[in-house]
Amino acid sequence: MDTRLSDGDIKSWEEVSLLYNSALKQINTKLEILNDEFQEVHRYNPIEHIKSRIKTPESIVKKLRRHGYESTLENMIKYVNDIAGIRIICSFTSDIYRIADMISNQRDIKVLTIKDYIMNPKTSGYRSYHMILAVPVYLSDRMADVKVEVQIRTVAMDFWASLEHKIQYKFESKAPANIKAQLFECAKIVSELDERMLTLNEEIQSVNTQDIE
Ligand code: GTP
Ligand code: MG
Repeated sequence: MDTRLSDGDIKSWEEVSLLYNSALKQINTKLEILNDEFQEVHRYNPIEHIKSRIKTPESIVKKLRRHGYESTLENMIKYVNDIAGIRIICSFTSDIYRIADMISNQRDIKVLTIKDYIMNPKTSGYRSYHMILAVPVYLSDRMADVKVEVQIRTVAMDFWASLEHKIQYKFESKAPANIKAQLFECAKIVSELDERMLTLNEEIQSVNTQDIE
């Protein structure tokens, strides 16, 4: 059985879309199971919510063009790592690493790359944990490893990233310096808030409610 998605295997955009949608379903189910189990064992949901999306053909073509590649199905599969994207939003920074570990420990998932923008934030101030995964999708006559981009971040990081994205979009990535500086300042505040919320949560956890009365 073929284990790799190789050039020539894919004949149409519909086929690409079927494969990437299937990979997203696989990951979504895995995450639901992990969240349910966590709830069962620890009485706690590490995942606040999940968003997933398939990149539109227009934006795939734009990305290929930006990187100097011809718009072919082969090039899409080879060079565009975020055709299938999933964003996992959680409460605390510690949840991010917990979720990343739980994903990496699954035997059928390959972690292709990791970018830890929490340990190493971008110059914009952007923070998140990114992984590119290869997820097996079983079709009637073959198996394909399909790439999925996973972004894991806290609610606060997500709040920052969505505003920053809107601003970049509005100014076509040429935001005025003072707006960029303010965003960077906000990113620092977000990072401090995440740390304080984590510490506070640990404090809350350590309090034995029976001792209070
Ligand atoms: P892209 O070509 O943008 O996909 O970047 P990349 O292939 O170098 O990967 P990277 O891990 O840096 O970014 C992947 C995705 O993370 C982007 O498509 C965005 O969704 C998100 N991202 C990265 N940097 C920023 C940022 O500065 N601000 C915001 N809002 N999102 C970002
Ligand atoms: Mg992208």
